[in-house]
Order: sequence, then C-alpha cells, then structure tokens
Amino acid sequence: MQDLAGKVAVITGGASGIGEGIARAAAAAGMKVVVGDIDLDDAQAVATDIGESALACEVDVSNLASVEAMRDTAMARFGGVHLLCNNAGVLIGALMQDADIRDWEYQINVNLYGVIHGISAFLPSMLESGEGHIVNTASMGGLIAGPPEGLYSTTKFAVVGLSEALLLEVAEQGVGVSVLCPGLVDTRLVAQSLAIRPVALDSGVDHGQPAPDTASGISPLVVGEQVMDAVRENRFYIITHDDYREIIEMRHNSILEALDQHTARYGSTSGR
Ligand SMILES: NC(=O)c1ccc[n+]([C@@H]2O[C@H](COP(=O)([O-])OP(=O)(O)OC[C@H]3O[C@@H](n4cnc5c(N)ncnc54)[C@H](O)[C@@H]3O)[C@@H](O)[C@H]2O)c1
Repeated sequence: MQDLAGKVAVITGGASGIGEGIARAAAAAGMKVVVGDIDLDDAQAVATDIGESALACEVDVSNLASVEAMRDTAMARFGGVHLLCNNAGVLIGALMQDADIRDWEYQINVNLYGVIHGISAFLPSMLESGEGHIVNTASMGGLIAGPPEGLYSTTKFAVVGLSEALLLEVAEQGVGVSVLCPGLVDTRLVAQSLAIRPVALDSGVDHGQPAPDTASGISPLVVGEQVMDAVRENRFYIITHDDYREIIEMRHNSILEALDQHTARYGSTSGR
C-alpha cells in the first residue's frame, strides 16, 4: 500500500510502546488512526495528542465481540479500514516446569487469539474491497526460543506461522501481510502485563524469572516508522535489530543438518 495519506489504520495496543509508535508514525504519514487498547485512558491520551485524525477505542483483543465492536466503531467513524496492526501483547516470564496453566492461557488469549480475532473481524472487508494490509506483532522470540520466555515464545512462533500462511493465502487478493519481529524495545510491556492481568488468569505466582530489560531497548517511535516503511514497500518480515543473526543462523542450520542426517541415514524421501 504505497500511498498511506487519507487511509485508515487500526492499531491494537496503541496506548503505549510499539503500538503508540505505530499510531504516531501512521498519523505522521497522513493516516486516520484508531488507537485501540484495553487501557482507554492511555489510548485517549495518545489519540488526543495526535489530534482530530485519531480516535481512541476501548478493546480487549482476547474477546472477539470486543474486537468486532472496535471494527464497527472504526467503520462508523472513518468509513473503512486499510491497515490493521494486531499489536497488543503481554509477557509473563516463567519456566514451563513452574508455570501455572493460567500463565499459558493469559498469553495465548492476548498474543495469539488477539491476532486471530483481528483477522476474523477485519479480513473479510479487506478481501471484499481488494485492498488492505495486516501487520501482526510477533517478536524476535517468535524466531528463536529460550527460557524463561518459553510460554511467550510459543505464542509468538504461532503468530509468525499464522502470518506466513496468511501471506500465502491472500497475497493474490490485494491484501498485504507483514510480521513484526522486534528485539528489545523500550516499553512498559513487563509491568503492564502484570497490571492488567484478569483476576481469573492471575496465577499469583512470582516465578522469580528475570524480566527482559526492555528499558535498554530501542525507541518505539523508530519501530513505528519501520512498520510504515514495510507497509509502503509490502515487505513481510519486519526486523528491527540485526544482532540476533548468529542465533537465527544456528537455529536454521540445525534444521538443515537434521535434513542432511535424514538423507544420509534413510536416503531421499518425498511425499506430502
Ligand atoms: N518491548 C519489547 O521489547 C518487545 C519485543 C518484541 C515484541 N514485543 C511485542 O510488541 C507488542 C507491544 O508491546 P510493547 O512492548 O509495546 O508493550 P506495552 O505494554 O507498552 O504495550 C502493549 C499495549 O497492549 C495493551 N494490551 C494488553 N493486553 C491487551 C488486550 N487484551 N486488549 C487490548 N490491549 C491490550 C496494553 O494495555 C498496552 O498498552 C506486544 O505484542 C509485545 O509482545 C515487544
């Protein structure tokens, strides 16, 4: 989608951090912006600061009806949606051996179902109009995995896989897809994930795992601008840091080595 001016963007998790960075970059590109977040006060503050082209909307991405209501609000106000950024996310650091099932549920509900709900609510009208772009926020933790963020990485690997499949499914139908895989970004992710955890999914357990030091990360505004560049250029992977190259290479090489080992031991095998 080369020309963004006058088009409409919906950004979940837009009240803070990366989502706020995307919202501000979209507005700077001339887009009208819906700042969707479970934290309405902060969404309102961002929208007010952006100005008349922005609308705050309370949404819980873990709830399909809530995401559909946000879509209806966006349609009623702006008449269409061209860019959807499924960005809201939470992180609870826990080793799998210590994790409570509620720690899994909380992260799956927001990080994975949040993306699924966005696609379910917004993709049909994009396909109908033959125009649109969806950006799903995964993480570098969606390309490489390790403790103590195994639960989080499980959801983010799923978002990468979902996005790859969606790209192949809709590429010929006028809808672009990108997956955002940031390294450390300076946001309130760790504190906010605990602050807004629903009571029913609050395991109350202090897993004692060191949280990633997001304060040492890059600015969310820089990430927002990189997202706009990728949307304009219709690029799939949006990588914000290049310092994970070695680990990604190690992971990919171990898969290729397993393929070679298979061939060496069992010979060539094909079949789908
Ligand atoms: N900060 C990093 O280093 C980093 C790195 C890689 C990926 N990410 C991902 O970036 C995305 C944004 O996170 P951030 O780092 O900007 O954190 P953040 O906490 O600053 O922003 C996330 C926003 O999502 C909102 N949110 C959480 N649950 C929600 C729900 N159920 N419905 C609607 N809104 C909800 C929060 O209120 C918050 O405003 C997340 O998906 C996160 O996993 C962050």
